[in-house]
Amino acid sequence: MKKRIIIVGGGPGGYVAAIRAAQLGAEVHIIEKETLGGTCLNVGCIPTKALLHTAKLYHAVQEESHKGLHVDNISLDWPALMANKVTIVKRLVQGVKGLLKAHGVQIHNGRAILQDAHKIQVEGDKSVTLEADIIILASGSVPSKIPVPGATCNGVIDSTAALSLPKVPKSLVIIGGGVIGMEFASLYSSFGTKVTIVEMLPQILPMMDSQIAKRIREKLTEYKVDFMMEAGLKEILPTSEGLSAVVQTAHKSHEVAGEYILMATGRKANTNNMGLEKVGIQTERGKIVVNEYFATNIPHIYAIGDCNAQMMLAHAASAQGIAAVEYALGHRPFYNPKIIPSCIYTIPEAAGVGLTEKEASAQGIAYKIGLFPLMANGKSLIEGCESGLIKLIADKKSGEILGGHIFGPRATDLIAEVALAMNLEATVDELITTIHAHPTMSEGIAEAALAVSGNAIHWPPGVKII
Ligand code: NAI
Repeated sequence: MKKRIIIVGGGPGGYVAAIRAAQLGAEVHIIEKETLGGTCLNVGCIPTKALLHTAKLYHAVQEESHKGLHVDNISLDWPALMANKVTIVKRLVQGVKGLLKAHGVQIHNGRAILQDAHKIQVEGDKSVTLEADIIILASGSVPSKIPVPGATCNGVIDSTAALSLPKVPKSLVIIGGGVIGMEFASLYSSFGTKVTIVEMLPQILPMMDSQIAKRIREKLTEYKVDFMMEAGLKEILPTSEGLSAVVQTAHKSHEVAGEYILMATGRKANTNNMGLEKVGIQTERGKIVVNEYFATNIPHIYAIGDCNAQMMLAHAASAQGIAAVEYALGHRPFYNPKIIPSCIYTIPEAAGVGLTEKEASAQGIAYKIGLFPLMANGKSLIEGCESGLIKLIADKKSGEILGGHIFGPRATDLIAEVALAMNLEATVDELITTIHAHPTMSEGIAEAALAVSGNAIHWPPGVKII
């Protein structure tokens, strides 16, 4: 008999799990309270990248004049930009709906509340109760707010609101120098907004390789973004021109003015009001606790993606969804949490996979690094990126690739080669002997592999790379 699977949440975790479950022969139901596609498609990855694409072109056109391209009277049509973003989102959401229907997945609109370990109530236009053999919770995450005085003032926004501002703001203070902070700093500084980043730690993008993070910061500084490091937000005050963020550094209190203040200090698992307590599903500080197959303490209930907070990335959620469904339906899934690329859509982009140098040394691994600056790569120079860098981390003895980090144009696509190499347990020699086309940015990966043994072709020996 067909197993009946109910999936709570239609984001990239939930809808991918639904399609995989249908492929494996289950009867699948998906419950979504808002719009299919979740945060990623509606108010996250896709709309941000749609806006960043135009920002990148806007930038490029202005920077290409010394290369012979003169565009007179370049101007920004903000409402048209917003409309384009909406069109792309709508098309993708329709696409998800179409795919689910094509796989025979039944879609329910409404809020899912667990009644017991097998029953879920859908509170929508009409309330129904569904019964399942297997439940997959994929309820995502919500922005976490710092509860400082003034945090509810008009003009204090999260990333969702930052995607739909009525016009390009004159100034923007971003609290948090993480992924969201860097992407919105790139976006708005490209359009002329005066951006100030307030970051608690001494490094932006603390989880990222420090050499790459340093280059991103230098690039954004070129775009006139100000950084206040080791700085904590204490209070927000309304002013006649907008808002003022009261920020504390080592011995001093500062006031930073902004038309808006964007809170980008992380997201938290969305697990409230779902009936988890009633069923006895174990959580830890709001996150659903799962095992290696994403099963909760109740074996036929799984939790994937942001709601388990293991790795808050859309592609991690999709991979977890596939693994959970395969396991639940008696297959042997493959999911390697050590090889999940993370991508940052700054201008230019940055991406990383596997270990950073800091992690390799903390784990006592004997490693070697290979660095290749993209200023020595033809394609990179043509694209106007002199500050790019590719860094590989390899096991000292075997040469196996343990991590890769890239800053430069299309880094988010290039990182796939390093991820594949890691998945195949490839060594630096195998990267070197893979012939990379010329002229491409990917040649830099082979050069970084050569640099592990000090043999890069297009970088002089002994010249230090910082
Ligand atoms: P994040 O965790 O990446 O960064 C938050 C930053 O805020 C950290 O650097 C932290 O030190 C700082 N911070 C925390 N409290 C602070 C305070 N009181 N004052 C000053 N600084 C403070 O979180 P973010 O950027 O909000 O992103 C949320 C999630 O969304 C992340 O898991 C991220 O991976 C994901 N995301 C992924 C994207 C991508 O893959 N391209 C794009 C956007 C978000």
